[in-house]
Amino acid sequence: MNWSRALLVLGIETSCDETGVALYDETGGLVAHALYSQAEIHAEYGGVVPEIASRDHVRKLIPLLDQCLEDSGRSRDEISALAYTSGPGLIGALLVGASVGRSLALSLGIPAVGVHHMEGHLLAPLLEENPPEFPFVALLVSGGHTMLVEVERIGSYRLLGETLDDAAGEAFDKTAKLLGLGYPGGPRVAAAATQGDASRFSFPRPMTDRPGLDFSFSGLKTHTRTLWENESGSADDEQLVNDIAAGFQQAVVDTLAIKCRRAMQQTGYGTLIISGGVGANVALRAALKRDGEKHGWAVSYPRIEFCTDNGAMIAFAGYHRLKAGEHEAPVISARPRWPLEELRAV
Ligand code: KG4
Ligand code: ZN
Repeated sequence: MNWSRALLVLGIETSCDETGVALYDETGGLVAHALYSQAEIHAEYGGVVPEIASRDHVRKLIPLLDQCLEDSGRSRDEISALAYTSGPGLIGALLVGASVGRSLALSLGIPAVGVHHMEGHLLAPLLEENPPEFPFVALLVSGGHTMLVEVERIGSYRLLGETLDDAAGEAFDKTAKLLGLGYPGGPRVAAAATQGDASRFSFPRPMTDRPGLDFSFSGLKTHTRTLWENESGSADDEQLVNDIAAGFQQAVVDTLAIKCRRAMQQTGYGTLIISGGVGANVALRAALKRDGEKHGWAVSYPRIEFCTDNGAMIAFAGYHRLKAGEHEAPVISARPRWPLEELRAV
């Protein structure tokens, strides 16, 4: 596509329980972003209820879009292209973003592209000052995925390892539920861990005793459950909850760090990036940073609010795909499952 003026891309994220909207300007960078988290609504049920998520995206998306335009001082007519998350994620939630995105693009007469949610996470560190340089290794840790990816350039992704069962974020969420910490689990386990003694109980570092870059977190989950039962755990026993949270978090952080070190050694790359919701974990960020300093590789991550789901990363990833000429026919569709390696290099 031959763009005659600087692109202003509207990004829409609705793959799970966060509604995110952002405007990315080709010359000025990120101009505005707005986010609404449904966490409080789902907390009552102890996890994301897909139908409630879809309905709430319907309610919040257009008001967020208007807010984003107002914050940026831009008008709808100035939007020159559109990007929305088309997968992976919850089908109903994805279809809300796809329907609104496609309809808006059609009415404005602008191109639109469906963005891979994990590519959004993967590119999010590039939104920051001093962005990481290609090639790099990406540790993507979210509620649905745990992957190590070799990134040569945008769109050129080789999967080095992934979880064989639960994702790291899912393990945090299930542990929080077990300990009576509620939803969303990750931040609550992290908060409890700051008050706990990680050395009181021993936890396994799954799959670190054999070669390879795959992960498995379901054994750690079972270990935690057994420990909780053996200790006759009660949510009222604050010290026990905090100590288990701290030990569990340390086990996840160590496991991820060991695999990152292996990936860095295997690829010989000089830069590691961390992204996805679990990338907001302060203990993980600090551990990987320390490792980078020790071994001499650069470590980058997005600001904490861009680790979890947001519209900015979708606007940004979409911008690169649109710029490379990608856009699709005006068909509303979503891909709840979509391997990252299917993307093409741009
Ligand atoms: O990337 P994300 O917002 O959504 C998905 O694409 O899944 O990630 C959400 C996951 C949840 O499992 C949540 O518990 C976890 O990220 N998470 C955290 C933290 N903040 C969010 N896990 C550990 N520590 C945190 N501070
Ligand atoms: Zn995500």
